[in-house]
Amino acid sequence: MNKTNQSWGGRFNEPTDEFVKIFGASIFFDKVLAPYDIQCSIAHASMLQEVGLLSKAEKSKIIDGLNTILSEINADKFDWSIDLEDIHMNIEARLVDMIGEAGKKLHTGRSRNDQVATDIRLYLREQLDTINSEIKRLQMALLDLAMQEVDTILPGFTHLQVAQPISFAHHMMAYFEMLDRDSERLIDCRKRLNTMPLGSAALAGTTYPINRKRVAELLGFERICNNSLDGVSDRDFAIEFLASASLIMMHLSRFSEELILWSSAQFDFIELPDRFCTGSSIMPQKKNPDVPELVRGKTGRVYGHLTSILTIMKAQPLAYNKDNQEDKEPLFDSVNTLKACLRVFADMLPNIKIKRDNMHDSTKKGYATATDLADYLVKKGLAFRDAHEIVGLAVAYGLKKQKDLSELTLEELQNFDQRIEKDVFDVLSLKGSLYARNHLGGTSPNQVKQAINRAIKNLE
Ligand code: ARG
Repeated sequence: MNKTNQSWGGRFNEPTDEFVKIFGASIFFDKVLAPYDIQCSIAHASMLQEVGLLSKAEKSKIIDGLNTILSEINADKFDWSIDLEDIHMNIEARLVDMIGEAGKKLHTGRSRNDQVATDIRLYLREQLDTINSEIKRLQMALLDLAMQEVDTILPGFTHLQVAQPISFAHHMMAYFEMLDRDSERLIDCRKRLNTMPLGSAALAGTTYPINRKRVAELLGFERICNNSLDGVSDRDFAIEFLASASLIMMHLSRFSEELILWSSAQFDFIELPDRFCTGSSIMPQKKNPDVPELVRGKTGRVYGHLTSILTIMKAQPLAYNKDNQEDKEPLFDSVNTLKACLRVFADMLPNIKIKRDNMHDSTKKGYATATDLADYLVKKGLAFRDAHEIVGLAVAYGLKKQKDLSELTLEELQNFDQRIEKDVFDVLSLKGSLYARNHLGGTSPNQVKQAINRAIKNLE
């Protein structure tokens, strides 16, 4: 090696400052891109040979060399160098080391700018597919739980005050729906992501007769970036992914919050499996819901990464700037965080103990069928506003007597309205209330079963 970096040192009079080397290097984190960088180089070399820029022998040497480098990396036998800054130059230098002259020709007609833009797309494309299958696994776990608990009654809340009885399965299916949209968003993001920047070179394209279509075909890209400046410089696909990832985390975080509340002694609706909880070093009685707490906590980290890449991009003039190197850590960390959170949720969910009796008793405490009584009166001819007023008075009476509406006698109820008859007690029961909401999207067990069946069909 000469006194400066071998791949660009020619015009420099002094070597890079020692700390600047460390400051500027991305090899600590962009190693993750190695398999994609190699995949990208193999496709590029194949195309170079096809258009006559490499001989067959040179191409074979390059491809064999790159495959050997990949095995070295996988076997943890690769000698990483900070002097070589990043993954691209580490691999290229090793290739030249290994195969000599032919290795020096690999970089013909490309730049690290279009190379890195291609590598991250390949990386993210693969990760998106893994994340989507993790979402599916979690959706399956939700479906299993929902199938078991169609008739389980849970207090439905608004303002965290008991509102109306709902089916526990209906509650689980709400999360299923959220995850369905999450997965659609990722699929949509994948469409735009699957566009190849390679061939943009540094920013303006290249003077060589490259065949971009061929490279795209080899790498499985559906389209080619139409504009070289745009191809090397935008990271909107990563931002789109992070926005979708943030929404997934937001959904998991809301779910976490409920699991935390439900497993507290105050709610006592569920018990989390011991192996997903920890104890306290000082309070022997404690069993802490660490997993959902961590998922809730990690949500902040993914939101932060979204803001981080948005900010990295906001003032960059076209085309590539070194700022873009800062896209990687937030992106990689978000991918890893998301995968881990989805995984731990899908593992934990089937092992949660559902305390059906406690949910039921708790639903009885909050006058959850008051709306049903109002609806009953409307069916007897009252205007809803008047019915609302009458039931309000009945609830106040019940509170004074410390009795649920269903525990009042027919005579007591008739004091509020003469039209009330014996059949009111069907309406005031939790089950009656639940079964009465029998339309598409409602919580009646009949509807929930249909929703589950539709979901199973769609997942297949
Ligand atoms: N490590 C760089 C990055 O992550 C690769 C591209 C470097 N290009 C350059 N012109 N310095 O963005």
